[in-house]
Amino acid sequence: MTSEATTATASARWRQRAAALADAVRPDGEAPSCRGAFACVPRHRFLPEQVWRPRAGGGYTPVDRARDPEAWWALAYADEPVVTRLADDGTGRQISASSASMPSLVAVMLDLLDVRPGHRVLEIGTGTGYNAALLCALLGDDHAVTSIEIDADTAAAADTALQAAGFAPHLVVGDGTANLPGDELYDRIEATVAIRRVPYAWIERTRPGGRIVTPWAGGGTGAGYLLALDVDEHGRARGHFGTRADFMLATEAAPDPDAARKAAPAPGPPRRTALDPGSVADPDLLAVLGIVLPDLVLAVDEDDAGRSRAHVWGPGGAYACATNVSADGPEVRAWGVGDLWSRVEDSAAWWQTAGRPETTEFGITVGPTGQHIWCDRPGSPPWANV
Ligand SMILES: C[S@@+](CC[C@H](N)C(=O)[O-])C[C@H]1O[C@@H](n2cnc3c(N)ncnc32)[C@H](O)[C@@H]1O
Repeated sequence: MTSEATTATASARWRQRAAALADAVRPDGEAPSCRGAFACVPRHRFLPEQVWRPRAGGGYTPVDRARDPEAWWALAYADEPVVTRLADDGTGRQISASSASMPSLVAVMLDLLDVRPGHRVLEIGTGTGYNAALLCALLGDDHAVTSIEIDADTAAAADTALQAAGFAPHLVVGDGTANLPGDELYDRIEATVAIRRVPYAWIERTRPGGRIVTPWAGGGTGAGYLLALDVDEHGRARGHFGTRADFMLATEAAPDPDAARKAAPAPGPPRRTALDPGSVADPDLLAVLGIVLPDLVLAVDEDDAGRSRAHVWGPGGAYACATNVSADGPEVRAWGVGDLWSRVEDSAAWWQTAGRPETTEFGITVGPTGQHIWCDRPGSPPWANV
């Protein structure tokens, strides 16, 4: 068969492929409520001719529609994220700047969002436009959906794709973490880009009783989680941390731990610590520290002699390093303002005493004066207003 004929056959089969994808996105064997939307939205229409598949060990493999139509079509309807735009991270390394998210994760988020007929929905991060199309299909009303995208070229491509697929949501170019368009109240806000801090503007623009679903990028080693926040009539939103989900960070929010370390002035004198730096490598503890200390970046490694070291980077160039170099026990040195390591010590000690609660037992409350993180277990400390 010629490659044109292969492409034509593949194209004619998109409905079969979309139906198979709709079956594949069932979380936990249950059909998601959005199954019908996956079956009727042509995902291939939202992808450019050249896309990239993330590689397991890092980096991206290009998949070109003209050169390898079978691979391109298979990827378009696979339960995989598809990278549609790459960018330089400033160090020469390529990172994903826009993508169509993994369909099963998209389904989990849409289920959490729980849209109902008559709802007005705002999406932050239009990307390819695919999720906006799913929202239109779910609501049966394109005018009920507004989507905001920070990159003008990405927004223009999404607009073209949405029109070609027969959908017409309201598209806006702008920063969805700051300037929300218009003054409308939404029943649902869904971010498809991760934030480190929930913008209070989202709560102000959500109707009481409404819901916000967003990926949240933690501190620690940078693990992310889905957050579903219910908004009350007092201008507060509250919800638990859910499924692990690593999304690209919203454009304004990326930290630069290396810059912080370089900016750190000379260290203070070393002090003893009861917390062994090696114990911080416990993945359950690391995950919890990433949630309760979201402004800190953590890494654990070994020095040349194989002794554990824990590094903590904080805002404003602060840095602390706990080591096992001294025969008298672990010690810590701190650079810059604030005792970062004591925050790690306190949280780790509380977590052990409380019976090692899991990440899903933690949640966040966001109000007009700030946001704080809590745990369902009694005696949960008031973690910092971040
Ligand atoms: C993972 S993609 C979104 C996937 C998309 N919903 C889809 O269905 O293809 C994230 C998008 O968010 C956009 N973005 C990043 N920061 C943003 C911000 N502050 N406001 C609005 N969009 C943003 C990126 O340019 C990117 O296109």
